Amino acid sequence: MKVAVMGYGTVGSGVVEVIESHSELIGKRTGGERLEVKHILDLRDFPGDAHEKLFTKDFNDILNDDEVKVVAETMGGVEPAFTFTMKLLQAGKSVVTSNKELVAQKGLELLGEAEKSGANYLFEASVGGGIPIIRPMSQCLAANNIEGVAGILNGTTNFILTRMIEDDMDFADALKLAQDNGYAEKDPTADIEGFDACRKVCILASLAFGKHVYPNQVSTEGITNITLEDVSYLHSANCVIKLLGQIKYISDDKIAAFVSPAVVQHGSQLAYVNGVFNAILVRGDAVGDVCFYGPGAGKLPTASAVVADMVDAAKHINRKKIFGWGAGSEDYVVDYKSTLEMPFYVRAKADENEIKELFGEVQFLSRHDQPSDEVAFITDKMTENALTAKLSGVNTLNTIKVTNY
Ligand code: HSE
Repeated sequence: MKVAVMGYGTVGSGVVEVIESHSELIGKRTGGERLEVKHILDLRDFPGDAHEKLFTKDFNDILNDDEVKVVAETMGGVEPAFTFTMKLLQAGKSVVTSNKELVAQKGLELLGEAEKSGANYLFEASVGGGIPIIRPMSQCLAANNIEGVAGILNGTTNFILTRMIEDDMDFADALKLAQDNGYAEKDPTADIEGFDACRKVCILASLAFGKHVYPNQVSTEGITNITLEDVSYLHSANCVIKLLGQIKYISDDKIAAFVSPAVVQHGSQLAYVNGVFNAILVRGDAVGDVCFYGPGAGKLPTASAVVADMVDAAKHINRKKIFGWGAGSEDYVVDYKSTLEMPFYVRAKADENEIKELFGEVQFLSRHDQPSDEVAFITDKMTENALTAKLSGVNTLNTIKVTNY
């Protein structure tokens, strides 16, 4: 079967490589048909590349080629990826993607178009890189009401936090190391401010509960406020800080969804996910907790998921894959700060008596070289708004949610 790849960056070139290096195996897995890359769309030139004859700068070469039935979109960003994907689906070609920004923003429209045209739109690589999570959630866990999801969804921030926790490296040095290792972009904003994790939360929430959640509905906080002092206090309580995307079922027409640093206790599977690895813990009412772990980014891991979708699309020509992903609504995602109760870690310039007067008996934490006017403690369960109100007269240095995953 002839296929095309749009975007020859890290993931796109990995897709071409995996299709070629695993040709015979893919032939077996599709039930007989090998995949053959006929076009590679990219505006850049790649002189000397072994696939030079396949390159085109004209999208119409793919759109108008009746032989091409499946296209991988590994361009990233919303435009022109959205326009191209829409046109391909309208033409009856299946599209598979690693583009989380596009799925988070436009998944509903693209799946709706696929529904009409008889093609498939698949996006296994958009969350968790090489980790199987989209198909397990939509198929293997189909018999569960999902109660919640908590995920370490961004490898760059997990790498930075791991270096802070294990090597006592401060945030700036850990970020620089992530950039030197090629994990973080030159402009790391989308990773460290949580936007990348937010897009992945949107996709997981839409899949888990069948209603589209958009990035602007997900409260998002990054890791730039985390300090070595916080790491040290929490170490004394056998806890670590992770950037988590969390989703909670509230009722059939209400969920909570947010991205923030979270205190994770040793004993949770998420506490042991280190470096650039990702993990997604799904809580189902029949299965209990299941955790999906693996490489959340990178050329070949992500290509592994993209090519698996191409194989699936090739096996489902003229047959629909159903995701049950419908329209969302403005008030579908609640303001979790006034709704969800949880314990909080607090660090403040205060004395213990002042804190006891406000919070009653709390668990105080300690660290090396703790200044005499600094306290850190874990509160009882309360909403974030109640916490903010209680701390209104306190010189608060940081607060972090404590998760129950
Ligand atoms: N920047 C992302 C990460 C890449 O660090 O996880 C994979 O989505």
